[in-house]
Amino acid sequence: MENVPSFLRAEYEQYPWLRYQPETITTYLPPDYYDKLLKPYTSGGASDLDFFIMSIRGHIQNPNADMLEMGSGSGRATDALLASGVNFSSLDLVDMSRDMVAQNRKKYARIPSISVVESDILDYLQATDRMYSYAFSLWGFSYSVHHHMNSTGIRAGAAYAENVITKFVTQNLREGGSIFIVHPDILSDEQRILKSLRQPTVSRTKDRQSSSKRTLDATTEKLERIGIVKAECVQIKGDPICYSSRDEALEVFLNFHMHGSLNRSRKLPRALQTLNAEFDKYQQGDKVLIAPGWFNYTITFQGQ
Ligand SMILES: C[S@@+](CC[C@H](N)C(=O)[O-])C[C@H]1O[C@@H](n2cnc3c(N)ncnc32)[C@H](O)[C@@H]1O
Repeated sequence: MENVPSFLRAEYEQYPWLRYQPETITTYLPPDYYDKLLKPYTSGGASDLDFFIMSIRGHIQNPNADMLEMGSGSGRATDALLASGVNFSSLDLVDMSRDMVAQNRKKYARIPSISVVESDILDYLQATDRMYSYAFSLWGFSYSVHHHMNSTGIRAGAAYAENVITKFVTQNLREGGSIFIVHPDILSDEQRILKSLRQPTVSRTKDRQSSSKRTLDATTEKLERIGIVKAECVQIKGDPICYSSRDEALEVFLNFHMHGSLNRSRKLPRALQTLNAEFDKYQQGDKVLIAPGWFNYTITFQGQ
């Protein structure tokens, strides 16, 4: 096999999907592959998109709001918003992945009120002078916080995130405007399995939430104490996700959640072992059923 590290030949033969390789360690999945591997995230039958649309209906007072989507990916939440009939006068989509951005520029080219920006989320929030009534992020926000923590250290990354969120809320959000964030629950079964494969920046200790969640909590609590925002964080226990086979579960965990970052690494055999041992606990017949979990945040600007 070409381009296969010689020490991983056996693994590549068994799992041909290991050939998926990100361009760089920070490159995200190509949009089509993302859509193919993405599983439904539901709780009591309601999907993350249902929670999002419910939030938007509850928080948009102005029918022609200016909106911002952070980490828009292949446009899953954007499409749900378009299908919901909720009106907006403008919608800015921000994502750091060149491929996702290129796809969305094409996909939404006929909708002039949609603009697509290639940027890191926090850097965009820091730089923008636009005013918004509603900003949302489904599963994207935490990436940006961890991205900064990985490049500048946990403390500096947390301080940057706190400053940027405060700046955005007070300078870019209209009074009464809201931010809705879907943030992973690192202590859910799904994320707990992933934690053993990840870098320590995400979370160093066993029973603690991720650094990005703790930063988001500390920032919103601070803003709430001084009366600038009203914040709500609802913990959602997800319905178990059904993987039709062990092979499918491995592909989703290594290529979707880990973005293929271990696929050429000496750590891969160990990661496969760890995942297989974990999946043993969740196996039902041929299937593997693993529950995800997340938090729905709503942060509403009360004015200064
Ligand atoms: C799990 S996907 C979520 C996509 C979409 N919101 C959804 O729910 O289907 C995460 C998205 O965040 C983007 N992303 C990752 N790191 C980012 C960063 N630092 N700044 C902006 N976007 C980022 C990825 O490119 C990807 O499109």
